[in-house]
Amino acid sequence: MPDDWAFGLASSPDQWLPVCSLPRLTAAGIVAVRIAGVDLALISDGGVVSACERACPHEQADLACGRVVDGRLACPRHDASFSLVDGAISDGWPSRPLRLYPVRVERGEVFINAASLKPLR
Ligand code: FES
Repeated sequence: MPDDWAFGLASSPDQWLPVCSLPRLTAAGIVAVRIAGVDLALISDGGVVSACERACPHEQADLACGRVVDGRLACPRHDASFSLVDGAISDGWPSRPLRLYPVRVERGEVFINAASLKPLR
């Protein structure tokens, strides 16, 4: 199965879109997906599922190649880390917080709310 799944935007802004199976995400830890032109990283950390923008807000490294430690996602390039609760970057880095997206897990599938999928500027 490819790392990127492409889905069209749902007709309803409140519609939740299936983006990855939970067993796949649990096994991989981090899975990259593309939904309606938005690149995301899905993260499973000890049974807690999160979704965030795929490009690091510091210098756009691929966060899908990062690692998760103690509820934080560490960037593979400079090793700054981001809270998976509120996106806050570790101290000393001149960057905005990581953008997080709402997720829902039902029936072994991870869903993203279509209304949250606005391309970043
Ligand atoms: S590119 Fe991610 S911390 Fe610098």
